Amino acid sequence: MLILGIETSCDETSVAILDGDGSVRANLISSQIERHRPYGGVVPEIASREHLEQMLPLTAAALSKAGVGLDQISMIAVTAGPGLIGSLLVGVAAAQGIAYGRGIGLAGINHLEGHIFSPYLRKAGPAIPVPSRFLSLVVSGGHSSIYDVRCGSGQPQIVMKNRTRDDAAGEVFDKVAKFVGLQYPGGPEVEKCARGGSVDSRYDFAIPRFKDDSPDFSFSGLKANAIRAARSQELDKSGDSRDLRLADFCASFQSAICDQLVDRLDRIWDSMKHEADRPAEVVLAGGVAANTALRNRVTTFGQERDLIVRLPDREFCTDNGAMIAFAALQNASMVTDPRRLTARSRMAVGLPG
Ligand code: KG4
Ligand code: ZN
Repeated sequence: MLILGIETSCDETSVAILDGDGSVRANLISSQIERHRPYGGVVPEIASREHLEQMLPLTAAALSKAGVGLDQISMIAVTAGPGLIGSLLVGVAAAQGIAYGRGIGLAGINHLEGHIFSPYLRKAGPAIPVPSRFLSLVVSGGHSSIYDVRCGSGQPQIVMKNRTRDDAAGEVFDKVAKFVGLQYPGGPEVEKCARGGSVDSRYDFAIPRFKDDSPDFSFSGLKANAIRAARSQELDKSGDSRDLRLADFCASFQSAICDQLVDRLDRIWDSMKHEADRPAEVVLAGGVAANTALRNRVTTFGQERDLIVRLPDREFCTDNGAMIAFAALQNASMVTDPRRLTARSRMAVGLPG
């Protein structure tokens, strides 16, 4: 069985070809970062047009890399939501056309479910077996949530244990980075800059708490504090010793994001302590999962609790078609009539597409 995975929810066009055992035969990603960089963020209209230009050539290139023809594909998986509607429509329309034309099944996949299962993909060879239950921390540009995932026969049961009440972690990386003059996307730039610095106790980036003791995330307070601190340190202006001060600022800010993510992971894990089938694996996923500081923190979290930790290969952190095809392999019931699939900018996790 060969499955074609298509992802166009934001600013990466990606097409992948997977075997039924999750082996990745091809996973091509065409990033639009350079096109959006001058604007400091994703411009939806530019994104849709770029997807249109890339969609068919990238599909042909993925087939050629995998050494197969369209006639050997038995199923197509495409991101149906959530995401930018104009971008989603390009992938969905292409997938519908191919599936309908060739009379093969089409699965509309939730982008976040793609991220959730991505840590089980390997760069080479069959995927790592997905356990019957795991805890997943998904941190991307648009989402930050922890999920309790149960898999067995049929549709996976995915329960959202928390969400962000305001900004997503990746979004805050991008906005704070932009304020101090770093390029879009800000996350990797902050990480690079943080390498030259160390956490500075002058920055008071406390972990937020809610009155009702909810384990939800909230990053807008950190964003405001970080921008205020950067302004008072004049990090938004060039000047003497700015580089070193900026490095310490980035290290402190990055560490504060990790502190909150791991704090919530710990609280949710702790709340499961009386469950007989408490998860034995914890996974990290999404664009921010490429961050080495966060990877180290989650690894330590797992080691301290005797948990198996799965970190996605960096190729599978960024939005990619392989994770979309792999999510479809977890959920055979997602296959629909190609004519009935619709793209949706908002879409809840764990519900049929
Ligand atoms: O999952 P993704 O590619 O797109 C969404 O679904 O949103 O995530 C993109 C986000 C951006 O906010 C970007 O700054 C962040 O992931 N990111 C990082 C790193 N690499 C990407 N954040 C922190 N450290 C990184 N190394
Ligand atoms: Zn994503």
